[in-house]
Amino acid sequence: MKIVKTIQEVREQVRTWRTEGLTVGFVPTMGYLHEGHQSLILRADGENDRVVVSIFINPLQFGEKEDIESYPVDLERDREICASAGADLIFHPDSQEMYGRDFCSFVDMDGLTETLCGKSRPGHFRGVCTVVMKLFNIVKPDRAYFGQKDAQQIAVIQRMVRDLNLDLQIVPCETVREADGLAKSSRNVRLNPEERKASNILHEALLLAEKSLDAGVRASDEIERAIRDTIQGEKLARLDYAEIVDLQTLKPVEVIRAPALVAAAVYIGNTRLIDNFIYRN
Ligand code: PAJ
Repeated sequence: MKIVKTIQEVREQVRTWRTEGLTVGFVPTMGYLHEGHQSLILRADGENDRVVVSIFINPLQFGEKEDIESYPVDLERDREICASAGADLIFHPDSQEMYGRDFCSFVDMDGLTETLCGKSRPGHFRGVCTVVMKLFNIVKPDRAYFGQKDAQQIAVIQRMVRDLNLDLQIVPCETVREADGLAKSSRNVRLNPEERKASNILHEALLLAEKSLDAGVRASDEIERAIRDTIQGEKLARLDYAEIVDLQTLKPVEVIRAPALVAAAVYIGNTRLIDNFIYRN
């Protein structure tokens, strides 16, 4: 497995693979990898001849109040996880390589980016779309792998691919969880032991919502209220949103019909956690 820092090195490597008739899978990440990322790399390895993983903490998707400087980093561990999961190339550029030379072009999207996480993170998805578009243009993969934990990110990227006629397949992958159900996240290390315990309320609330759906409840407001009430029962948790939306358009639905996305975000202390499930019938 090789680690490269320049766009040119990625292009040369992928061009060589292409001339050999090999397919390329791509897993974009911001590093500090865990079993969630690992599952995407393993899947990409199973479905493609070669796998590229990018590790880049994208400044464009962080808000002014979000501390990019404290985003965790452990490149040595990332390298081991990538190698053992079957990656062939790590692309680890610096900001200058990605955004140097008077950068001023952006990929913007209406509608889908203004709800859910977009409401409390203005500009976030503009940053995600822009960097993912750049990465797609650099790597030119056949397939790109994204985690369902970031359900809105998947919906937004899928729409970008459709609207801008990108020639690749987006592969959504299951959320990987801790033993108690908390979705794995690079941000979980920020939780102190008390907060870590409290964070479980997010998954619990969503499990309750799933149970209500199984029992035949179809009114969004009833299920949203139940999620809200459950989360408010945990004194360390502060709800950001609990919403049920159409899986493709991300528009709120009054009466739940499959496929619908049930998504919630909470603050535990200063750490913002998200989780969701898809209601498929
Ligand atoms: P990052 O948060 O590092 O996540 C990289 C990929 O791993 C995303 O597709 C995310 O959904 C997936 N992932 C994270 N936790 C997961 C879990 N518990 N189970 C399954 N998949 C999980 O998402 C980003 O980086 C950035 O926005 C990026 C797409 C790289 C653009 O900068």
